[in-house]
Amino acid sequence: MRDITKLPFDKVTVSPSILAADFGCLGADIKRVTEAGADLLHLDVMDGHFVPNLTMGPPLIKSIRQASELVFDTHLMISDPLTYSPIFIDAGADHITFHIEADSDPQAVIDEIKKHGATAGISVKPNTPAETIFPYLDQLAMVLVMTVEPGFGGQSFMLDMMPKVTAIREEIKRRGLQVHLQVDGGIAADTVEIAAKAGANMMVAGTSVFRNPGGAEKAITQLHEASKYL
Ligand code: DX5
Ligand code: ZN
Repeated sequence: MRDITKLPFDKVTVSPSILAADFGCLGADIKRVTEAGADLLHLDVMDGHFVPNLTMGPPLIKSIRQASELVFDTHLMISDPLTYSPIFIDAGADHITFHIEADSDPQAVIDEIKKHGATAGISVKPNTPAETIFPYLDQLAMVLVMTVEPGFGGQSFMLDMMPKVTAIREEIKRRGLQVHLQVDGGIAADTVEIAAKAGANMMVAGTSVFRNPGGAEKAITQLHEASKYL
């Protein structure tokens, strides 16, 4: 069963972002990172409105659903997650992360995602404080702290997001919850240690996995090794 809540909380897990894959042979690229040890798969959905870029939609997700048994960790960088979440779940998304800065009412989006049988996560952009997600924390399977401005792969990791990661980790601990804490943007062998030490247990990695000159297996293994810093 593809369920993000069944993935370990006490180890670093790796969610390769297919935004850095070769879309001309996406099925083969997904197989490559799956065999290399990916724990789940990160799907970056952009609408050209919430962020200034366009990526993939439900038909693509439906196609790759046949090629993978990994949890589809779907990151909606779109303005209207309330309307579109069920459509992505129908296409094969197991987990939906939406942005607290989007136009929809967060509680309504969480309810809609759960009603359609998926797990919910909330993401915060770099300028959004940790506290904005606290009212929803006990209903979430995951919180995503962006470590770049959302919109593009291949940007540099923002070190100054680490206090936010730690503040959310502390709140998860204080309430005794099991919630994954994900970071996304610029995660690679040289930044994963600091992210894990700050309290992140789930690493999104696009460029450093799909385009690693040393190969995806080495890249994912290096990211997994940061478990020792949790
Ligand atoms: C950025 C996306 C990220 C991005 C990560 O808006 O949400 O998932 O693809 O790419 P890298 O790992 O290359 O920074
Ligand atoms: Zn993402």
